[in-house]
Amino acid sequence: MVTRDEILIAANFILEGKLVAFPTETVYGLGANALDPDAVVKIFEMKERPSFDPLIVHIAHLDDLEPLTKEHDDRVYELARRFWPGPLTIVLPKNSIVPDIVTSGLPTVGIRMPANPIALELISAAQRPIAAPSANKFGRVSPTTAQHVRKQLKTVDYILDGGPTTVGIESTIIQLNQKGFNILRNGVIVREDLEKVLPYHPEYNNESTVIAPGMVKSHYSPAKPLYIAGETSKEIDRTRAGFLSFSEAEVSGYKEVIKVSRHKDLKEYAVNLFAAIHYMEESDVEYMVAEPVPEIGIGIAIMDRLRKAAYRYNLAD
Ligand code: TXA
Ligand code: MG
Repeated sequence: MVTRDEILIAANFILEGKLVAFPTETVYGLGANALDPDAVVKIFEMKERPSFDPLIVHIAHLDDLEPLTKEHDDRVYELARRFWPGPLTIVLPKNSIVPDIVTSGLPTVGIRMPANPIALELISAAQRPIAAPSANKFGRVSPTTAQHVRKQLKTVDYILDGGPTTVGIESTIIQLNQKGFNILRNGVIVREDLEKVLPYHPEYNNESTVIAPGMVKSHYSPAKPLYIAGETSKEIDRTRAGFLSFSEAEVSGYKEVIKVSRHKDLKEYAVNLFAAIHYMEESDVEYMVAEPVPEIGIGIAIMDRLRKAAYRYNLAD
């Protein structure tokens, strides 16, 4: 799908301080050389992202971690061995080579090694860590295909089209404290997975308090209203609405129905959710209604995304 030549072109763009959209296993990222503040500033401009919202730095090898971070905690290497490459971001004390613009002035930096061969090849070819937020306008729904990226970011210098992503929602973000780990954003690596390595200890580290998506009520806002069935007082007119279904129950009367999962499978629901929302944004439904999923395991991350997507529309009820 992506040739070696395309990877090398993209790597050159990164070295020239330009922006490259690339697939990770979670969502597409909008990447720049993490060590070049002039390149990183372009990410904030293109996304229209406020400068107080820090970026995740992507690496391809464990050796890339050491220069970026100050403390070398054995627990980090244990987590890395188990979950990297994979959808886990670890927030760590940063070294001075990481520009302040990447971390919004915080003393910490979020790092992850993505489990996508194109992403890993790009980082390796550029021989630079790559700072990349999701490749969407700030606050909007993350892209899971190259087409979704094109829809929102029309002026990006280069896009590596690796097809649809395989996880579908953004990485789990954690931070370590003396007693264990704290979750800053839920994802498909769930608390129980992490507890096999470290105790869960939900204590915020005041040093790096940030307005993270995990902490704001509204984010991932679709271009059309989204309501959660059973959690809204909106009178739904099915003939004008699109339905995002989880269970196998047949629903009737909706203008459009997408079976986000066909067999009540949370993992499958996560993979397909953002693509379903992007589809509904383009279709002629006026608003969307999502069937809630059970809040266990990955369901916690899914309901977090759905509630944030629904938040501002529920206020308007
Ligand atoms: O799956 C993902 O994580 C995707 C792919 C592209 O890797 N990236 C992603 O990036 O979702 P973004 O920018 O949309 O979300 C990153 C979030 C920030 O909004 C912030 O909440 C948190 O990561 N973050 C980054 N650095 C942090 C830090 N030093 N302390 C606390 N939170 C941090
Ligand atoms: Mg994002």
